[in-house]
Amino acid sequence: MDIINVSVGARKADIAKCKADVLAVGMFSDDKKPAGFAAQIDKKLKGAIAKMMKLGDFKAKANATTVVYTNGAIAATRVLLVGLGERKKVTFESMRKVAASAANQAVAMQAKTLAVAIHQACEKQFDLEKLAQAIAEGVYFGAYRWDEYVTKEENGHSKKLSVELVDSGAANMRHIEKGVRIGAVIGQTQSFARTVANQPANVINPAALADIAKKTARETKGLTCTVFDEKQLKQKKMGAILAVGMGSVNKPRLIVLKYNCGKAKAKTVALVGKAITFDSGGISIKPSQGMEDMKFDKSGGVAVMATLKAAAQLKLPINVLGLIPSAENMPSGSSSRPGDIVRTFSGKTVEFQNTDAEGRMVLCDAIAYAVKQKVDAIVDIATLTGACMVALGKYKAGLMSNNDTLVEKLEKAADASGEAVWHLPSGDEYLDEMKSKVADLKNIGSRWGGACNAAAFIGQFAGDIPWAHIDMAGVDLFDSPKSYTSVGSSGYGVRLLAYYLLNM
Ligand code: BES
Ligand code: MN
Ligand code: ZN
Repeated sequence: MDIINVSVGARKADIAKCKADVLAVGMFSDDKKPAGFAAQIDKKLKGAIAKMMKLGDFKAKANATTVVYTNGAIAATRVLLVGLGERKKVTFESMRKVAASAANQAVAMQAKTLAVAIHQACEKQFDLEKLAQAIAEGVYFGAYRWDEYVTKEENGHSKKLSVELVDSGAANMRHIEKGVRIGAVIGQTQSFARTVANQPANVINPAALADIAKKTARETKGLTCTVFDEKQLKQKKMGAILAVGMGSVNKPRLIVLKYNCGKAKAKTVALVGKAITFDSGGISIKPSQGMEDMKFDKSGGVAVMATLKAAAQLKLPINVLGLIPSAENMPSGSSSRPGDIVRTFSGKTVEFQNTDAEGRMVLCDAIAYAVKQKVDAIVDIATLTGACMVALGKYKAGLMSNNDTLVEKLEKAADASGEAVWHLPSGDEYLDEMKSKVADLKNIGSRWGGACNAAAFIGQFAGDIPWAHIDMAGVDLFDSPKSYTSVGSSGYGVRLLAYYLLNM
């Protein structure tokens, strides 16, 4: 379902001889004159870049870009100068964003080929493999567009973009190639996630999402998929998933994806992702303003699906169990009502007090199922609470857990992947708010600390297994275009989870 066909590779070449529609060259904002690759090109362009800097026309602030036409002075048609920002502030994530900004511009200019020249200074400062990986991921991120339903061509953009990371040093190539290989898998699977998440709810309902999972498994070596439909959910007594889904004509599913590495002693991680294909709130219906964004309420589940695809493609030496409970939360004569009590897969009973707190319901059955499979760790990811968005804004996801080692691992993955998390509390006080007078639990607590209350509820179903919960409400989409990306699904979670698995 990829919209723009992007490929990323590596090439050893003299950059002046590098043929491309666009050659992206990085520059630091604290340099007084062209350095590195920019200096090489400046010489060929008879000082055009130096002049530009002197006039102050291009300040090389992070993610800023400007085009220089080469008129045959070098093999590339255009040089795209890309600001890297201050030398001392450069990180893998800032380089990922810079690469994304360059790719975004190249696509806007309808380029078919893009050559990316990594700044020599960065090659010394960073692990080159990891840097190349981040740049490859960034290229996919920035080149991404979702306009498959727009029939009118406005300004146009590339339909296909072939990208090469260029370097002249032979010794560097091995590292760059390896990084690009990993980064391309992660970048591609993240774009896949964005395209699935962006689909509206009239296109993707739980059954359609399950079909995509099955197709993905068929196409990916090492990945298998089973889907529990409504009948099987009833047989298995997954009362919570059923209760959320029963108001819609589009019946719920539990999608089970498995990647097994084949090694006898390998650990198994369960990734559990909320996939509400549309969250109207149900009988506790939401206000109409912004309700269209609730098509993105499947983003956690989609991130899990894409991560399993990446894990299989990367042949990671661990087992991953992907569980994606999917339902459409709708109001109707057959919906769950506030006051309804349901028996969940775990045996615990839950009183619905608000049918809009449906995410924790579908997650609790899937998590209890993971526990039954005796996995070694559980990480769930969900667009779970508006409260998390109020607490953290749009730049970081909330992270709650019963295990500090798992928190550290996820924080490390967040740092490296650029998909940020912030550790929030949960525990007994919060759990007290979730106790019902008429059942074991109720599905809402007080107004305060809503993200922490929700996590306490979910944690009840993980038992003693190391468990972490990522509340990605707020980071699931971009509502305005950025230098490094177009609007819509962010694909959040794919890089975070892939890096977490890669580090194991
Ligand atoms: N899917 C929403 C959370 C959400 C809100 C995600 C905004 C992204 C943006 C979730 O199902 C929900 O409705 N949560 C309620 C819980 C409340 C009823 C306890 C909320 O946050 O209002
Ligand atoms: Mn809801
Ligand atoms: Zn929801």
